[in-house]
Amino acid sequence: MRILVLGGDGFCGWPAALHLSQLGHDVDIVDNLSRRRIDAELGADSLTPIRTPEERIAAWQEVTGKTIGFHPTDIAQDYDGLVALLARTRPDVIVHFAEQRAAPYSMKSPVQKRYTIDNNVNATHNVLAALVETGVDAHLVHLGTMGVYGYGTAGMRIPEGYLDVKVDGEDADGTPTGELIDQTILYPTNPGSIYHMTKVLDQHLFAFYAKNDKLRITDLHQGIIWGTNTAETQLDERLVNRFDYDGDYGTVLNRFLMQAAVGYPLTVHGTGGQTRAFIHITDMVRCIALAIENPPAGGERVKIINQLTETHRVRDLAQLICEITDAQMELVPNPRQESAENDLFASNDTFLDLGLEPTTLSEGLLAEVEETARRYADRADLTKIPASSLWTKNQEVGAPSRVPETA
Ligand SMILES: NC(=O)c1ccc[n+]([C@@H]2O[C@H](COP(=O)([O-])OP(=O)(O)OC[C@H]3O[C@@H](n4cnc5c(N)ncnc54)[C@H](O)[C@@H]3O)[C@@H](O)[C@H]2O)c1
Repeated sequence: MRILVLGGDGFCGWPAALHLSQLGHDVDIVDNLSRRRIDAELGADSLTPIRTPEERIAAWQEVTGKTIGFHPTDIAQDYDGLVALLARTRPDVIVHFAEQRAAPYSMKSPVQKRYTIDNNVNATHNVLAALVETGVDAHLVHLGTMGVYGYGTAGMRIPEGYLDVKVDGEDADGTPTGELIDQTILYPTNPGSIYHMTKVLDQHLFAFYAKNDKLRITDLHQGIIWGTNTAETQLDERLVNRFDYDGDYGTVLNRFLMQAAVGYPLTVHGTGGQTRAFIHITDMVRCIALAIENPPAGGERVKIINQLTETHRVRDLAQLICEITDAQMELVPNPRQESAENDLFASNDTFLDLGLEPTTLSEGLLAEVEETARRYADRADLTKIPASSLWTKNQEVGAPSRVPETA
């Protein structure tokens, strides 16, 4: 199949593009390199030394003989360029990773709030409008987040996107009819940041275009990714994936493993009672391939799949890492506005039914990530580790009391 990977230079997009190419698909990456520019803005580079897209793609060709195209289009700003690209390449599948994805970055200041809304909502809407304009019948696979459901305790098993409800029927004049009306609605959203809000807005755009234009769309409600490399990125050092460890982009488990590797106390926000959904990076690339192999038929509602393999409480993860390494942990003020403690129980039946065999947390895999972090520890800037983006004014920054000066 001909596949466009939007955001294919990023943490998820790069290993997904390589995996799809390895499976024999004809892959093109579209990426405006905004994530690399944000690295420069924050002064926090990937811990791993990632090569330029051109070097990465040349290395892939050298190692495997397979070619991947690269288009530096900004899909949020350059609508005409996107239309021309779709008309030229006529993909069978578009995998859409191309959004600003850090909740803390999206809450930094009005500049980043506005950028995240402008970029993410326009990127998604431009793809949808361009599919309709060009008449390209591609299956759109979008990366959403489990965060659209909110991070409170639901008191129930969170379904895959839709909730069946019964409501009391009423006449037009408001008189109860005594009937119970069945309805299926999008699971009520409860975004915890501007970033999560953009994924909520994406969901509504998808619902409209699936209904109005019969577009075929799969929305993957993904958990937090952990791990760094996949079978393909390990083939050559020049294919190495990015590893974010800073307070804005570092995802919690990878950040803890990096902190353990450099002897920095694990910074647990609040009580660490937050329960989150996780998925290993190798399962993420498998899920993308499975979603591509199982598209919805045209005219159906958006196919929503929860892409997670396990849930964990943050302080339990920190404790586990302290047990297998000699790391210390420290509770620091939580920069986010969220429940101090929550339970999370979510369905992930679709991918399991499609044959996904989950790679769950194991000491071996944790050690592998810590080892990667240790190898590149001299590239770390420890001052970038504390979370400095605050959800409201007058909060305390989550820095630990004692930190080593260098890695
Ligand atoms: N990393 C996670 O743990 C995680 C968890 C859940 C969901 N997701 C979702 O998966 C997707 C990818 O996440 P990631 O971790 O790879 O993020 P990332 O920032 O590493 O990658 C996103 C890529 O998209 C590109 N991009 C952004 N805006 C663009 C635009 N307007 N035009 C072209 N390219 C653009 C960036 O340059 C970057 O390379 C995101 O949509 C994110 O919301 C990620």
